[in-house]
Amino acid sequence: MNFFKISLSVSLLLTCSWVAPVIAAELAAGEQKAATCLGCHGSKGKSNSPQWPNLAAQQSAYLVNQLNAFKTGARSNPVMQPIAANLSDDDINNLAAYFSGQPPVSAGGDTALAESGKAKAAMCLGCHGTSAGGNGQFPRLAGQHPEYLVNQLNSFKEGTRKSGPMQAIAGGLSAEDIKALSAYFGSL
Ligand code: HEC
Ligand code: HEC
Repeated sequence: MNFFKISLSVSLLLTCSWVAPVIAAELAAGEQKAATCLGCHGSKGKSNSPQWPNLAAQQSAYLVNQLNAFKTGARSNPVMQPIAANLSDDDINNLAAYFSGQPPVSAGGDTALAESGKAKAAMCLGCHGTSAGGNGQFPRLAGQHPEYLVNQLNSFKEGTRKSGPMQAIAGGLSAEDIKALSAYFGSL
Protein backbone atom coordinates (compact mmCIF):
# COMPACT_ATOMS: atom_id res chain seq x y z
CA MET A 1 0.00 0.00 0.00
CA ASN A 2 1.53 3.35 -0.95
CA PHE A 3 1.41 6.46 1.20
CA PHE A 4 -1.56 7.95 -0.66
CA LYS A 5 -3.69 4.87 -0.03
CA ILE A 6 -2.72 4.76 3.63
CA SER A 7 -3.53 8.41 4.22
CA LEU A 8 -6.80 7.99 2.32
CA SER A 9 -7.89 5.09 4.50
CA VAL A 10 -6.84 6.94 7.66
CA SER A 11 -8.87 9.98 6.65
CA LEU A 12 -11.87 7.79 5.76
CA LEU A 13 -11.61 6.17 9.18
CA LEU A 14 -11.51 9.58 10.83
CA THR A 15 -14.49 10.78 8.76
CA CYS A 16 -16.57 7.75 9.76
CA SER A 17 -15.82 8.08 13.46
CA TRP A 18 -16.91 11.74 13.27
CA VAL A 19 -20.26 11.17 11.56
CA ALA A 20 -22.05 9.42 14.45
CA PRO A 21 -21.34 12.06 17.14
CA VAL A 22 -22.30 14.89 14.74
CA ILE A 23 -25.66 13.25 13.97
CA ALA A 24 -26.29 12.58 17.67
CA ALA A 25 -25.54 16.25 18.45
CA GLU A 26 -27.94 17.41 15.72
CA LEU A 27 -30.69 15.16 17.06
CA ALA A 28 -30.19 16.30 20.65
CA ALA A 29 -30.23 19.98 19.62
CA GLY A 30 -33.25 19.35 17.39
CA GLU A 31 -35.16 17.62 20.17
CA GLN A 32 -34.48 20.50 22.53
CA LYS A 33 -35.57 23.12 19.98
CA ALA A 34 -38.66 21.05 19.07
CA ALA A 35 -40.11 21.73 22.54
CA THR A 36 -41.38 25.04 21.10
CA CYS A 37 -43.19 23.23 18.25
CA LEU A 38 -44.98 20.48 20.16
CA GLY A 39 -47.84 22.61 21.47
CA CYS A 40 -49.19 22.56 17.90
CA HIS A 41 -47.39 19.78 16.01
CA GLY A 42 -47.76 17.31 18.90
CA SER A 43 -45.42 15.06 20.82
CA LYS A 44 -42.78 13.62 18.40
CA GLY A 45 -44.49 15.50 15.55
CA LYS A 46 -47.79 13.60 15.79
CA SER A 47 -50.37 16.37 15.86
CA ASN A 48 -53.80 15.96 17.41
CA SER A 49 -55.59 18.49 15.23
CA PRO A 50 -55.93 18.64 11.43
CA GLN A 51 -55.10 22.36 11.43
CA TRP A 52 -51.52 21.39 12.36
CA PRO A 53 -49.69 19.00 10.02
CA ASN A 54 -47.90 15.92 11.34
CA LEU A 55 -44.15 16.44 11.04
CA ALA A 56 -43.21 12.91 12.19
CA ALA A 57 -41.22 11.01 9.54
CA GLN A 58 -41.50 13.92 7.10
CA GLN A 59 -38.58 14.17 4.66
CA SER A 60 -35.69 16.13 6.11
CA ALA A 61 -34.89 18.04 2.87
CA TYR A 62 -38.56 19.00 2.52
CA LEU A 63 -38.73 20.28 6.12
CA VAL A 64 -35.63 22.43 5.54
CA ASN A 65 -37.17 23.83 2.32
CA GLN A 66 -40.48 24.68 3.98
CA LEU A 67 -38.95 26.31 7.06
CA ASN A 68 -36.80 28.47 4.76
CA ALA A 69 -39.84 29.25 2.61
CA PHE A 70 -41.77 30.47 5.70
CA LYS A 71 -38.69 32.42 6.79
CA THR A 72 -38.37 34.29 3.48
CA GLY A 73 -42.15 34.61 3.07
CA ALA A 74 -42.11 32.49 -0.13
CA ARG A 75 -44.70 30.33 1.68
CA SER A 76 -47.10 32.52 3.58
CA ASN A 77 -48.79 31.59 6.82
CA PRO A 78 -49.47 34.02 9.68
CA VAL A 79 -48.58 31.43 12.36
CA MET A 80 -45.45 29.82 10.85
CA GLN A 81 -43.77 32.91 9.34
CA PRO A 82 -42.86 34.60 12.65
CA ILE A 83 -41.81 31.24 14.16
CA ALA A 84 -39.50 30.40 11.23
CA ALA A 85 -38.09 33.93 11.22
CA ASN A 86 -36.54 33.21 14.62
CA LEU A 87 -34.79 29.99 13.52
CA SER A 88 -31.12 29.95 12.49
CA ASP A 89 -29.83 27.67 9.71
CA ASP A 90 -28.51 25.31 12.41
CA ASP A 91 -31.90 25.28 14.19
CA ILE A 92 -33.61 24.42 10.89
CA ASN A 93 -31.18 21.56 10.12
CA ASN A 94 -31.45 20.18 13.66
CA LEU A 95 -35.26 20.37 13.72
CA ALA A 96 -35.45 18.66 10.32
CA ALA A 97 -33.12 15.89 11.55
CA TYR A 98 -35.25 15.42 14.68
CA PHE A 99 -38.72 15.35 13.08
CA SER A 100 -37.67 13.27 10.06
CA GLY A 101 -36.36 10.63 12.48
CA GLN A 102 -39.63 10.18 14.41
CA PRO A 103 -41.84 7.15 13.72
CA PRO A 104 -44.52 7.61 11.03
CA VAL A 105 -48.16 8.13 12.07
CA SER A 106 -51.49 7.55 10.31
CA ALA A 107 -54.38 10.00 10.48
CA GLY A 108 -56.87 7.30 9.43
CA GLY A 109 -60.32 8.48 8.27
CA ASP A 110 -63.14 7.73 5.84
CA THR A 111 -62.40 4.30 4.33
CA ALA A 112 -64.93 4.43 1.46
CA LEU A 113 -63.62 7.81 0.34
CA ALA A 114 -60.05 6.54 0.74
CA GLU A 115 -60.86 3.60 -1.54
CA SER A 116 -62.04 5.95 -4.32
CA GLY A 117 -58.91 8.09 -3.84
CA LYS A 118 -56.66 5.08 -4.25
CA ALA A 119 -57.84 4.72 -7.85
CA LYS A 120 -56.61 8.24 -8.68
CA ALA A 121 -53.37 8.19 -6.70
CA ALA A 122 -51.06 6.54 -9.25
CA MET A 123 -50.19 9.87 -10.88
CA CYS A 124 -48.89 11.22 -7.55
CA LEU A 125 -46.58 8.38 -6.62
CA GLY A 126 -43.84 9.02 -9.19
CA CYS A 127 -42.78 12.04 -7.14
CA HIS A 128 -44.21 11.35 -3.68
CA GLY A 129 -42.82 7.78 -3.56
CA THR A 130 -44.41 4.39 -4.18
CA SER A 131 -45.93 4.27 -0.69
CA ALA A 132 -46.30 8.09 -0.52
CA GLY A 133 -43.49 8.23 2.03
CA GLY A 134 -41.87 11.10 0.16
CA ASN A 135 -38.38 11.46 -1.27
CA GLY A 136 -36.06 14.39 -0.51
CA GLN A 137 -37.80 17.59 -1.59
CA PHE A 138 -41.02 15.62 -2.33
CA PRO A 139 -43.00 15.48 0.90
CA ARG A 140 -44.38 12.43 2.64
CA LEU A 141 -48.18 12.42 2.21
CA ALA A 142 -48.82 9.06 3.91
CA GLY A 143 -50.68 9.44 7.19
CA GLN A 144 -51.07 13.23 6.96
CA HIS A 145 -54.35 14.77 8.19
CA PRO A 146 -56.77 14.74 5.20
CA GLU A 147 -58.13 18.22 6.06
CA TYR A 148 -54.59 19.63 5.95
CA LEU A 149 -53.96 17.96 2.56
CA VAL A 150 -57.25 19.36 1.19
CA ASN A 151 -56.26 22.87 2.36
CA GLN A 152 -52.83 22.62 0.74
CA LEU A 153 -54.18 21.28 -2.55
CA ASN A 154 -56.72 24.12 -2.64
CA SER A 155 -53.96 26.65 -1.87
CA PHE A 156 -51.87 25.29 -4.78
CA LYS A 157 -54.94 25.41 -7.02
CA GLU A 158 -55.75 28.99 -6.06
CA GLY A 159 -52.07 29.99 -6.31
CA THR A 160 -51.83 31.16 -2.66
CA ARG A 161 -49.16 28.47 -2.15
CA LYS A 162 -46.60 28.54 -4.94
CA SER A 163 -44.75 25.50 -6.29
CA GLY A 164 -43.82 24.66 -9.87
CA PRO A 165 -45.26 21.16 -10.26
CA MET A 166 -48.06 21.26 -7.67
CA GLN A 167 -49.89 24.34 -8.95
CA ALA A 168 -50.36 22.75 -12.37
CA ILE A 169 -51.23 19.34 -10.88
CA ALA A 170 -53.75 20.69 -8.35
CA GLY A 171 -55.23 22.89 -11.07
CA GLY A 172 -56.29 19.71 -12.86
CA LEU A 173 -58.06 18.19 -9.82
CA SER A 174 -61.78 18.61 -9.08
CA ALA A 175 -63.02 19.24 -5.54
CA GLU A 176 -64.10 15.56 -5.46
CA ASP A 177 -60.63 14.37 -6.57
CA ILE A 178 -59.02 16.49 -3.85
CA LYS A 179 -61.25 15.06 -1.12
CA ALA A 180 -60.76 11.46 -2.25
CA LEU A 181 -56.99 11.71 -2.74
CA SER A 182 -56.57 13.39 0.65
CA ALA A 183 -58.66 10.69 2.35
CA TYR A 184 -56.55 8.00 0.69
CA PHE A 185 -53.16 9.47 1.59
CA GLY A 186 -54.30 10.24 5.16
CA SER A 187 -55.43 6.65 5.61
CA LEU A 188 -51.99 5.17 4.82
C1 HEC B 1 -49.03 27.98 17.19
C2 HEC B 1 -49.01 26.73 16.42
C3 HEC B 1 -47.69 26.32 15.76
C4 HEC B 1 -46.43 26.21 16.33
C5 HEC B 1 -46.01 26.53 17.76
C6 HEC B 1 -45.57 25.70 15.28
N1 HEC B 1 -46.27 25.49 14.12
FE1 HEC B 1 -45.54 24.72 12.38
N2 HEC B 1 -47.38 24.93 11.49
C7 HEC B 1 -48.49 25.47 12.11
C8 HEC B 1 -49.58 25.56 11.14
C9 HEC B 1 -50.97 26.13 11.39
C10 HEC B 1 -49.07 25.04 9.92
C11 HEC B 1 -49.81 24.91 8.58
C12 HEC B 1 -49.47 26.10 7.73
C13 HEC B 1 -50.21 26.09 6.41
O1 HEC B 1 -51.40 25.79 6.40
O2 HEC B 1 -49.57 26.38 5.39
C14 HEC B 1 -47.69 24.66 10.19
C15 HEC B 1 -46.85 24.11 9.22
C16 HEC B 1 -45.54 23.73 9.45
C17 HEC B 1 -44.68 23.10 8.48
C18 HEC B 1 -45.04 22.70 7.07
C19 HEC B 1 -45.39 21.21 7.06
C20 HEC B 1 -45.72 20.67 5.70
O3 HEC B 1 -46.11 19.49 5.63
O4 HEC B 1 -45.59 21.38 4.70
C21 HEC B 1 -43.48 22.89 9.10
C22 HEC B 1 -42.24 22.25 8.49
C23 HEC B 1 -43.59 23.39 10.45
N3 HEC B 1 -44.85 23.90 10.65
C24 HEC B 1 -42.56 23.33 11.39
C25 HEC B 1 -42.65 23.86 12.68
C26 HEC B 1 -41.54 23.86 13.61
C27 HEC B 1 -40.18 23.27 13.33
C28 HEC B 1 -41.99 24.49 14.74
C29 HEC B 1 -41.21 24.80 16.02
C30 HEC B 1 -39.98 25.56 15.82
C31 HEC B 1 -43.39 24.85 14.52
N4 HEC B 1 -43.74 24.45 13.25
C32 HEC B 1 -44.20 25.46 15.46
C33 HEC B 1 -48.60 25.83 13.45
C34 HEC B 1 -47.57 25.87 14.36
C1 HEC C 1 -43.81 16.20 -10.60
C2 HEC C 1 -43.72 15.80 -9.18
C3 HEC C 1 -45.01 15.79 -8.38
C4 HEC C 1 -46.18 15.09 -8.66
C5 HEC C 1 -46.49 14.20 -9.86
C6 HEC C 1 -47.07 15.36 -7.55
N1 HEC C 1 -46.45 16.18 -6.63
FE1 HEC C 1 -47.26 16.87 -4.89
N2 HEC C 1 -45.56 17.92 -4.48
C7 HEC C 1 -44.44 17.96 -5.30
C8 HEC C 1 -43.47 18.85 -4.70
C9 HEC C 1 -42.10 19.21 -5.27
C10 HEC C 1 -44.03 19.35 -3.51
C11 HEC C 1 -43.41 20.33 -2.51
C12 HEC C 1 -43.82 21.72 -2.93
C13 HEC C 1 -43.11 22.78 -2.11
O1 HEC C 1 -41.89 22.71 -1.99
O2 HEC C 1 -43.82 23.66 -1.61
C14 HEC C 1 -45.35 18.74 -3.40
C15 HEC C 1 -46.23 19.00 -2.35
C16 HEC C 1 -47.48 18.41 -2.22
C17 HEC C 1 -48.39 18.63 -1.11
C18 HEC C 1 -48.13 19.48 0.12
C19 HEC C 1 -47.76 18.55 1.27
C20 HEC C 1 -47.54 19.24 2.58
O3 HEC C 1 -47.09 18.55 3.52
O4 HEC C 1 -47.80 20.45 2.71
C21 HEC C 1 -49.51 17.89 -1.37
C22 HEC C 1 -50.75 17.80 -0.50
C23 HEC C 1 -49.29 17.19 -2.63
N3 HEC C 1 -48.06 17.53 -3.12
C24 HEC C 1 -50.21 16.32 -3.20
C25 HEC C 1 -50.05 15.70 -4.44
C26 HEC C 1 -51.07 14.87 -5.07
C27 HEC C 1 -52.41 14.54 -4.45
C28 HEC C 1 -50.56 14.48 -6.28
C29 HEC C 1 -51.22 13.65 -7.35
C30 HEC C 1 -52.51 14.14 -7.82
C31 HEC C 1 -49.20 15.06 -6.38
N4 HEC C 1 -48.95 15.78 -5.26
C32 HEC C 1 -48.36 14.86 -7.46
C33 HEC C 1 -44.27 17.25 -6.47
C34 HEC C 1 -45.20 16.47 -7.10
